[in-house]
Amino acid sequence: MFGNIVLECMIIVLVGFKFAAQIASNFPQLPPNTSVKTGSARSSCIKMGDGLSPGDPNSYSNPDEVAVSNLNLIWKIDFQKKIISGKVTLTANRKKGGVRNLILDSSDLKILEVKDDESGNNLDFEVHAPDPKFGSKIEITLPNLESERYNITIAYETSPKASALQWLDPEQTAGKKHPYLFSQCQAIHCRSIIPCQDTPSSKTTYSAEVTAPSDLVVLMSAIRQGEPADVPEAWKVHRFQQKVPMPTYLIAIAVGALESRKLGPRSHVWSEKEYVDESAKEFSETELMLSTAESICGPYVWGIYDLLVLPPSFPYGGMENPCLTFVTPTVLAGDRSLADVIAHEIAHSWTGNLITNRNFEHFWLNEGFTMFVERKILGSMHGKEARLFSAFRGLKDLSDAIKTLGDNNPLTQLVVDLKNLSPDDSFSTVPYEKGHTFLYYLEELAGGPEKFDPFLKDYLDKYKYKSIDTDDFKKYLYEYFPENEALKKVDWEKWLRSPGMPPVLPDYSTSLDKACASLKNRWVEWSRDGTSNFSINDLKSLSALQIQEFLTQLLLENPLSISKLEAMQKAYDFDNAKNCEIHFRWLRLCIKGQWSEKIPLALKFVTQQGRMKYVRPIYRDLYGWEEARLKAVENFKAHRKEMMFVAAYVVAKDLHLEEK
Ligand SMILES: *[C@@H]1O[C@H](CO)[C@@H](O)[C@H](O)[C@H]1NC(C)=O
Ligand SMILES: *[C@@H]1O[C@H](CO)[C@@H](O)[C@H](O)[C@H]1NC(C)=O
Ligand SMILES: *[C@@H]1O[C@H](CO)[C@@H](O)[C@H](O)[C@H]1NC(C)=O
Ligand SMILES: [Zn+2]
Repeated sequence: MFGNIVLECMIIVLVGFKFAAQIASNFPQLPPNTSVKTGSARSSCIKMGDGLSPGDPNSYSNPDEVAVSNLNLIWKIDFQKKIISGKVTLTANRKKGGVRNLILDSSDLKILEVKDDESGNNLDFEVHAPDPKFGSKIEITLPNLESERYNITIAYETSPKASALQWLDPEQTAGKKHPYLFSQCQAIHCRSIIPCQDTPSSKTTYSAEVTAPSDLVVLMSAIRQGEPADVPEAWKVHRFQQKVPMPTYLIAIAVGALESRKLGPRSHVWSEKEYVDESAKEFSETELMLSTAESICGPYVWGIYDLLVLPPSFPYGGMENPCLTFVTPTVLAGDRSLADVIAHEIAHSWTGNLITNRNFEHFWLNEGFTMFVERKILGSMHGKEARLFSAFRGLKDLSDAIKTLGDNNPLTQLVVDLKNLSPDDSFSTVPYEKGHTFLYYLEELAGGPEKFDPFLKDYLDKYKYKSIDTDDFKKYLYEYFPENEALKKVDWEKWLRSPGMPPVLPDYSTSLDKACASLKNRWVEWSRDGTSNFSINDLKSLSALQIQEFLTQLLLENPLSISKLEAMQKAYDFDNAKNCEIHFRWLRLCIKGQWSEKIPLALKFVTQQGRMKYVRPIYRDLYGWEEARLKAVENFKAHRKEMMFVAAYVVAKDLHLEEK
């Protein structure tokens, strides 16, 4: 996912806000004794604890015994009932003799029937009692003990509360006339829309045939097969195929009144028509970024690269769904200043999607590498200083995140322990920025980009289409640099398993951040007795990223007085900043200075968009200020149902409405 960490927001239709953010996650381990609903041959929920490879603490499935290699989905989208109904055919391949059961993950699914395609016979299956974090294990008795391969078809329906799906009523869309559906499966929500082996340790291709109302467009993280076909009574069938094996968390769907504009030879941008032209302008550099990424990472294997700009409730900055990046409308800043989200999602085409973390304890292999490649792309397009300035800002975000989490918190380790922990609870900037810091450090030790760039390309080639863990990376690093003495001294244990800030902090400072510090100092040092000479001209020589950085630096100082904040609003008008990153930091500064008049503006911001990167800190800040606390809680309760599952889930915890 994206971001500086991608948590993110939404836009405001009325005011035309913009935002962006990211999130990531990590995951936990299943309870030792989930109970079995109906008696069956193998009853325990073995998988998790017993250290079998692939060992994913967040999935019940058994891909090391029987692995699913293709999913064929036949879906009907029912906006009235807010469910998807249909079938999935899983192609399952036996890896070990004697194994009787195919074990799948599910969450809130209604399983109607399970059949063996070859014989047409019904198969025995058991759906175990649900665990609140990980859902229900499903055990299916294989048709026989001999075959190498089975096609097993499951008829089922999703719940209206499926955690991967957001159903919007027409009033919640920009156009107001049509409903909208979109999904977010990372980290472990695919199991709420498909009974599947919901672990990134296993990869699968997929195809889909989706029936939806004929006035709506269906998009998936796959290549569209021909034009949609009419079927009776105002429905259309849309066909898709994804031939590159990928983890289930990358399966994605969106259904709505969507239009597209061409961005380049392999790219279109999609959105409701209200944003489509603005989006095309904002993302006009997509092909340049893609070809820059190819020069760093090797060939792009996914065929097309499209973007979908979602409604404002999308909780992340972006989500790297293959062939179709999902992106928050909060990045529509009007000046391409937030397009680093796109560089990030493009980078995931290699780091994350082609080489995937084996489980979410090693999430830094997805996100740390993606930050590293994102900054290489920016550096290649805009120069070395641009790369360093982005890293400089990222390190601040890391320090802020670690302050929030506490520097002894085990979730601030690069490699985390996710036993019994929902990935949604462990998500933070840490894997992104501590991961980036580690790679930058290794690059320096290896002899700089000249030596490290070719290694990066080789690493991506070596492990493409695979799921790996940190040891695989380490092993290949030493294989590639056998003679490098500096690399031999790396303290891996400390980097990977100790909490808090990284053991070595690089110096990313350049003239770009120094200009921000000098404006910040003018504000801090200004005594209100003296005359002020602040004006909008102060910002003329700064880029949007530098203005963000200026505000970030002010946030690290003592709170500004209300009269200074008033003077800043008068000089710079941040109340009306179109750039969400700037507006967000400004609101935090106002809350920190306890400027009561700004509470309504802050509440409006967290209501008009649902990007977790923005919503969580503002809600937390408001909660921490007695005067605002009740208002924040009431506002959340009033608007909770407009938020996507994961955003509402984490904010409820931030506001102490639910147990942590
Ligand atoms: C596990 O099983 C024991 C004994 O049957 C029971 O007391 C306990 O509550 C169970 N734990 C969970 C998490 O279900
Ligand atoms: C199993 O399913 C796959 C994918 O849908 C299909 O290509 C294959 O022909 C099927 N095999 C059998 C034996 O039905
Ligand atoms: C504003 O005042 C400060 C100190 O009083 C001075 O250093 C600075 O040059 C002035 N800036 C402008 C734009 O006049
Ligand atoms: Zn990401």
